[in-house]
Amino acid sequence: MQERLDELRRLIRHHNDLYHRLDAPEIPDVEYDLLVRELEALEAEHPELIVPDSPTQTVGGAPSATFAPVTHELPMMSLDNAFTRAELNGWAARVARGLDLELDQGPPGVDPGHEADGGPVVDVAAAIAAAAAAAPVGYVCELKIDGVACSLRYEDGVLVQAATRGNGRVGEDITANIRGIAVIPNELTGPAPQVVEVRGEVYLPVSTFEKLNESQEAAGLPRYANPRNTAAGSLRQKDPAITAGRGLAFWSYQLGVVEGGPSLEGHGDALDWLAELGLPVNPERRRVETVDEVVAFADHWLEHRHDLDYEIDGAVVKVDRLARQEALGATAKAPRWAIAYKFPPEERTTKLLDIQVSIGRTGKATPFAVLEPVFVGGSTVQVATLHNDDQVRLKDVRPGDTVVVRKAGDVIPEVIGPVLAERPAGLERWTFPESCPACDTPLVRPEGEAHNFCVNPTCPAQRQGRIEHFTSRGGMDIEGMGESTVALFIEQGLISDVGDIYDIDWDAVAELEGFGQTSIDNLKAAIEASKQRPLASLLVGLGIRHLGPAGAEVLARAFGHLDAIVSATAEEMAAIDGVGPTIAASVADYFATDEARALVARLQAAGVNVQGPEVTSVPQVLEGLSIVVSGTLSGFSRDGAAQAIKSRGGKNPGSVSKKTTALVVGTEPGASKLTKAEELGVPIIDEAGFEALLETGRLPD
Ligand code: IVH
Repeated sequence: MQERLDELRRLIRHHNDLYHRLDAPEIPDVEYDLLVRELEALEAEHPELIVPDSPTQTVGGAPSATFAPVTHELPMMSLDNAFTRAELNGWAARVARGLDLELDQGPPGVDPGHEADGGPVVDVAAAIAAAAAAAPVGYVCELKIDGVACSLRYEDGVLVQAATRGNGRVGEDITANIRGIAVIPNELTGPAPQVVEVRGEVYLPVSTFEKLNESQEAAGLPRYANPRNTAAGSLRQKDPAITAGRGLAFWSYQLGVVEGGPSLEGHGDALDWLAELGLPVNPERRRVETVDEVVAFADHWLEHRHDLDYEIDGAVVKVDRLARQEALGATAKAPRWAIAYKFPPEERTTKLLDIQVSIGRTGKATPFAVLEPVFVGGSTVQVATLHNDDQVRLKDVRPGDTVVVRKAGDVIPEVIGPVLAERPAGLERWTFPESCPACDTPLVRPEGEAHNFCVNPTCPAQRQGRIEHFTSRGGMDIEGMGESTVALFIEQGLISDVGDIYDIDWDAVAELEGFGQTSIDNLKAAIEASKQRPLASLLVGLGIRHLGPAGAEVLARAFGHLDAIVSATAEEMAAIDGVGPTIAASVADYFATDEARALVARLQAAGVNVQGPEVTSVPQVLEGLSIVVSGTLSGFSRDGAAQAIKSRGGKNPGSVSKKTTALVVGTEPGASKLTKAEELGVPIIDEAGFEALLETGRLPD
C-alpha cells in the first residue's frame, strides 16, 4: 500500500512537472486523471497516510528559473473534477449539506438501504445526491477554457503585474509577455479600484493555432501539438516580442485580491463588474438554480464545443453567492464551492490508411495508425498509437477500415476499434512485422513483456531516439538539436551516440545546407551550455529505463557524484527514500555495461558536469542505537522514518527487543509493540521526541 502511494505520488509529481514546467506532457489527461483518482481513493481509505506534500494537497508544478518568482497574496487554487453526473450530484450534495440547506429526501415511507428484509435496495448516498441536485443553491456555469492560468494585477486601474499559477503559491512573473496580448487592457475603464487581481486563462484561438501550423508546415517545420501547449510555450518565451506575435487571447473568470472595489453579492456580479472594467469575460456564462440546469448547460456545450474558436474541456460550476462561497471554504488544493464538470474524451471516425511500426530509443516497437486527417479533441490527428501487437490483434483494425479515434484534449490520440459495418470486403488481417523496419534485425518479444523489441544496439532508429532524448528539454536541453538536426547529423555520419555530441566536426557541419555561421555558433553555444546542466538532467538524458526526473534528482542528491552512482549497488540505491527496487535494479544494470561506463568516461572527459548537489553529511548521532517505529507519523512516511534513522547510523528493526533504545509511536501504533516495550521498560516516545532524537541523538527527558 505505502509503496503504491509513493509510486503514485512520484508519478503524479513527474507528470505535473512535465505539464506545468516543461509544457511537454507525456501521457493523456485521462490517464493522468486516473492516477490522481487512484491516489485520492487510497488516501480517502487511509487518511492517516496523507502527507502534507502529497500532490492531492498541493497544486501544479514548480516555478522555473527563467522568470522571477511572484508570491500570490491569495493562492491560485485548482479545481476538483467531476467526470459523471453522479459525481456532480455528489458535489452538489456536499455543497447543500455544507450550507445546511433543506434537502428533499425522497418519498416518505421508503426506508432506503434495508435490503435484509426484502425492501428496496437503494443507494443512500446516490439518493441524497439526487435530492441535492434539485436544491436551489444558485450556481454560475462557465466554460472550462483549456489554456494557461494567469493572474493579472491592476493598481489604480493600471496593469502592474502578471503571473503564472506556478505551484499555486509562487508563480512566474510574465508581465512583459502579457503586455503583448492585445485583448488584455493596460488600463481599466470606469472607476477603477485601488487593487484588483483578475484570474483567468490565456489561450490560443483555434484559428490562430491552425494558421501557425500552416506556416510551420510551409517552412518545413514540425506542427505544434495542440493550442494549449502552444499557448503555454508562447507565454513563456524569453523574448516578449515572440509572445506578442503569437496572437494569444484571455478570458477572465475569477477575482483575486480586491481593495476598494464595489460590494458584490455574487460571483456572477463579479464577472459583470470585470466586463465593465474592460476585461474580456466569456459571454457564454449562465446563472442557474439547480444541477439539472448545470447539466443542460454542459450538454449543450459538449455538442457545440467546436462552434467556439477556443478549446474547452468541460464546464466550471461555481456557487454564486459570495457569502455562501465563504461559508463553504476550500481544501488545501481547491475551493469546495466550485467544480470542473469535465467532458468525456472526444471520438470521431476516419479511414485507417496504414499501420506502421516505430522503434523507440529502447528498441521498443510500437505500432501506430496512419489516418486520414481528422479533427478530434481540438487538433487534427493523422497518427494514433496502437500500443502493441496484442492491442492490434484485440482491436483487429485493418488498413482500409473506418476506425473510431479518441482524443481528450491531450497529446496521444488512440484508435478505439473498427466500424465493422463499413469494412470493405476482402480486407486482410494485419500482422506485426518480423523484423525492425529501421535495421531489419528480427524483432523479439521477451517473456512477460507486452512489446516486441529491436535488440540491435546500433539500430539507427534507436540511436536517433537516444540522442533526441538526451538533447530534449527534460534531459540536457540542447536547443537546436531537435528531431530533424539529429536525423541529419546521424545520416551524415557526424554523430552516432550521445558522446559524439561533444565531439562534432564543425567544418563538416558548415558544408551542410542550411547551416550558416550563426546557426553553427548557436548550436555550439547550446552544446557548451549543456555541459553545466545538473547531474539529474544528465541521468535523465541517458535514458535509463524507469528512471524519471524525480528518481534522478534523489540519486544525484544522495550520491553527490556520477562516479558514486556508477559504482553503487542496487541495494545501496534501493535503501534511499524515493528510489524503489525497480529503479535501483535498472540503474545498476545500466551502469554495469561496458558501453555505459565508456560513455560516462567520454562525457566526463568532454567536461560535462557530473557533480551533484552538495551532499549534506548527516552527523552519525544514532550510532549504536536501535529505534523501532510503530503507527503513522505525520511528518515521515514509514520508509522516510527508516531512512532518517539509518542515515544517522542507527538501526531500525521491525520489532521491539531488550536491545531497543526507544519505541517511537505515531497514531494507531501496534498493540504488540507497545505491550512489549512496556514489559521490557523500553522508553516510548512520540513524534516530537523522535525529531529531537534525530537531531541530538539523545532521548527526551
Ligand atoms: S476557476 C478558485 N474558472 O481550470 C477557482 N478555472 O482545472 C479557480 N479554468 O486552474 C479556477 N476555465 O486554470 C476557473 N471558467 C473557469 C476556468 C478555469 C479554465 C482552469 C484554471 C484552473 C483549472 C483547474
